Amino acid sequence: MPVERTYIMVKPDGVERRLVGEIIRRFETRGLKLVGLKLLQPSTELAEAHYAVHRERPFFGELVQFITSGPVVAMVWEGTDAIKLCRNMIGALKPLEAIPGTIRGDFTTEVQTNLVHGSDAPETAANEIGLWFSPGELI
Ligand code: RTP
Ligand code: MG
Repeated sequence: MPVERTYIMVKPDGVERRLVGEIIRRFETRGLKLVGLKLLQPSTELAEAHYAVHRERPFFGELVQFITSGPVVAMVWEGTDAIKLCRNMIGALKPLEAIPGTIRGDFTTEVQTNLVHGSDAPETAANEIGLWFSPGELI
């Protein structure tokens, strides 16, 4: 069971809806360790790099517009199997599959305004952490 770091982000809708504390509380009380945290409004360039894998998808433009529409809370959390653990806590992308008890399952009915992002694999976690944080910003 590897100790991993994962990139977690409260999206603009989560900040707007005052759910930052609630979302952080869930990862903290689960037992994960917070190793990086900042509030920023992402540039278009940063948002496009973050979601580069979705560049060809029809919703890409709308997605970048949404992610740059306001401040986000960028975080790095560390723990055993943190990547999958956090994805489980965030919940599924499709609203009907996001079960109650997960963040999406408890607080949203929408596919785009789904409150929180979490890295989906070790490679993407490493890329995303490097994209959003400089090494000196991580404890
Ligand atoms: P995320 O990357 O944000 O953690 O979400 P995810 O892995 O659960 O979903 P992913 O397939 O990576 O999609 C990234 C984000 O794009 C938006 N989306 N919109 N309109 C659509 O059909 C659609 N599909 C995806 C969502 O904001 C999703 O979180
Ligand atoms: Mg994703």
